[in-house]
Amino acid sequence: MPEVMRAVEISQPGGPEVLRLCERPVPQPAYGEILVRLDYAGVNRPDALQRAGLYAPPPTASDLPGLEGAGVVVALGDGVTEWAVGDSVCALLPGGGYAEYVTCPAKHALPVPAGMDMKQAACLPETYFTVWSNVFMRGRLKAGERFLVHGGSSGIGTTAIQLASAFGARVFTTAGSDAKCEVCRELGAEVALNYREADFVEVVRSAGGANLILDMVGGDYIPRNIKALADEGRLVQIAFLQGPKVELNFAQIMMRRLTVTGSTLRPQSDLAKARIADQMREKVWPLLDAGTVAPVMDSEFALEDAAAAHARIEDGGHIGKIALRVR
Ligand SMILES: NC(=O)c1ccc[n+]([C@@H]2O[C@H](COP(=O)([O-])OP(=O)(O)OC[C@H]3O[C@@H](n4cnc5c(N)ncnc54)[C@H](OP(=O)(O)O)[C@@H]3O)[C@@H](O)[C@H]2O)c1
Repeated sequence: MPEVMRAVEISQPGGPEVLRLCERPVPQPAYGEILVRLDYAGVNRPDALQRAGLYAPPPTASDLPGLEGAGVVVALGDGVTEWAVGDSVCALLPGGGYAEYVTCPAKHALPVPAGMDMKQAACLPETYFTVWSNVFMRGRLKAGERFLVHGGSSGIGTTAIQLASAFGARVFTTAGSDAKCEVCRELGAEVALNYREADFVEVVRSAGGANLILDMVGGDYIPRNIKALADEGRLVQIAFLQGPKVELNFAQIMMRRLTVTGSTLRPQSDLAKARIADQMREKVWPLLDAGTVAPVMDSEFALEDAAAAHARIEDGGHIGKIALRVR
């Protein structure tokens, strides 16, 4: 085992250019943790927020960016019974994924699905943990319900469309171009609206209203989401790309028995994340093994080109996931 590894660090808060190749000590797995030699890491918008100084890592996490990856288990901490050295895993990471080696709780790793390559597997955990916990656990989506997800072509959106469709929901989505909407329909969306041309409130209300909305946009979407919900509908907020502050008439929430909720994954306890992993192993991994759902891949960059990967996710032209090739 080498003592040092290549990694990408955030040299100071700023634009993509502040990402810098560096050498760091190879981390050691603590009790209950595994050490993974990564083949690929996934790139997520929260990485760009962290780089810009807008999303601090939890105090116990690595300062290196990177919330997910896939590779081979090369060492076990005390108390680990779930994995053996040599197993191929994909893992939700507390941070530190832009590196050749990373540690994480053993219970936050899942097997690389049958027939899936490491690049796709690296791009599973962050969006799948987020979508499963917010759409199915928190949002309680059921077969036959009308589900609206904004940002349909994003990493989160492409995952939510596929999983909601696979579990029998009727999926409505919004995206910023006709080409993005076409991809969303191919993934299973019944209706995909180019939000630059159509008003989602009218379309969703005319279909009976959404039973559940997953939103990352915020801003003026918040009152419009409230209007688009059916009676007893649920709104789950996972980000605020257009800002978190609006004026809202809360009487609607009372009169139509709505639920407004939301969550962020990263600060949740190890136990909470392990529970999400357990549920997904049972309910979602069979779909991945069978190829019923799979990550939509946009592009691949070498680890040393992480700045270009961040520029790609921030310019908004991508569809699906961006991967960093670590080895
Ligand atoms: N709460 C959590 O635990 C959690 C976990 C992971 C990610 N997230 C959040 O979920 C969102 C999606 O993450 P991701 O990694 O899938 O990112 P991503 O692929 O970059 O997705 C962002 C999407 O939002 C759309 N969008 C709509 N309005 C926008 C605006 N005003 N500014 C920028 N983009 C806008 C973009 O495309 P179009 O505008 O062209 O449609 C794009 O598809 C991010 O905001 C991320 O921070 C939250």
